[in-house]
Amino acid sequence: MVRSPENLGGVALLGSGSALPSQTLTNDQLGQRVDTNDSWIRSRTGIAGRRVIGSEESLTELSCRAGRSAMEMAQWDPDSIDLILLATSTPDDLFGSAPKVQAQLGAKNAVAFDLTAACSGFLFALVTASQFLRTGAMQKVLVIGADQLTRWVDWDDRRSCVLFGDGAGAVALESTSSEDDCLIGFQLKSDGSRGDCLNLPHLNQFLPLVDGISHEAGGFSPIQMNGQEVYKFAVREVPEILEKLLKVHEVLPDSLDWLLLHQANQRILDSVAERFSIPNEKVLSNLANYGNTSAATIPLMLDEAVKDGRIKSGDLIASSGFGAGLSWGAALFKWRGPV
Ligand code: ACO
Repeated sequence: MVRSPENLGGVALLGSGSALPSQTLTNDQLGQRVDTNDSWIRSRTGIAGRRVIGSEESLTELSCRAGRSAMEMAQWDPDSIDLILLATSTPDDLFGSAPKVQAQLGAKNAVAFDLTAACSGFLFALVTASQFLRTGAMQKVLVIGADQLTRWVDWDDRRSCVLFGDGAGAVALESTSSEDDCLIGFQLKSDGSRGDCLNLPHLNQFLPLVDGISHEAGGFSPIQMNGQEVYKFAVREVPEILEKLLKVHEVLPDSLDWLLLHQANQRILDSVAERFSIPNEKVLSNLANYGNTSAATIPLMLDEAVKDGRIKSGDLIASSGFGAGLSWGAALFKWRGPV
């Protein structure tokens, strides 16, 4: 039943899941391809290795594995899912990969679509899902963040190719009473006027079609990135948006259990944590193992920390995603876990 605006419900995070490709590419191995080395990459980014999707794997398959694992934790029957939101900028099919995921998960009653917001994609999808749940229009939503940026990396550009890896993460969200609400608040931002520092642009190649008419050929250029501009953007905007979020909800940084940022660069994580005097033990990081997996980083990290027992039911988490667009956002939520 759809609720009235005065009577909105809450959102509970009941399950998490993740999936990774089997191939690992170390910094030393990358050094065989471009003029780089382990010590430069580790000291400038914190990354030691990343996963690369192989010929037997796909974004759809990783998304299904992550989604299935979140569904199992939440103890959901696939038939009961209302919506599958796949946050990705690198679908297997430009028309959308979410319906394939829906079919392979056997979620025959779910509507499924992709949402594109680069590295902010998971956070934007989480907030989008929460709107359906709060109104009561939907009861169960599976949000998946998955990307395979290794497909679009320029492997001869040492300034960007060292950063990215592939992966998928998922959360199972259920509508609940307003008293049990786990999503305390969010802030989302976009600024296309600054988008030129990080792009995966269309090729812009025209071919003759018939006399006097040409058509554009399909295809994209590899990722183009001005790393320093993206870095400056992240260390300026992420603390600002987090500060605003904490202030609106009267939450002191001290009372946070975890800081869960998009895993782009360890120096960005450290800089944001320092701004709020959050100790290292509360800053979640798995960058060393997986690099920047774009829309997957936040749910991948969440799942890892839930499964190894660091994140416990009731823990308060401040999260922020940021990236191409430019786009960025923050959310304050409590992990519930299976009931
Ligand atoms: N190995 C060795 N040397 C390198 C490498 C490398 N992989 N890359 C760059 N260098 C060299 C440069 O050529 C330069 O040398 P020079 O001074 O002789 O020209 C020197 O190192 C310094 O280069 P900078 O680009 O200034 O290095 P910086 O300290 O800024 O680090 C980095 C680069 C890691 C890319 C950093 O700017 C960064 O992390 N930026 C943020 C990028 C990011 O997070 N992007 C993803 C956003 S999320 C999304 O939406 C996809």
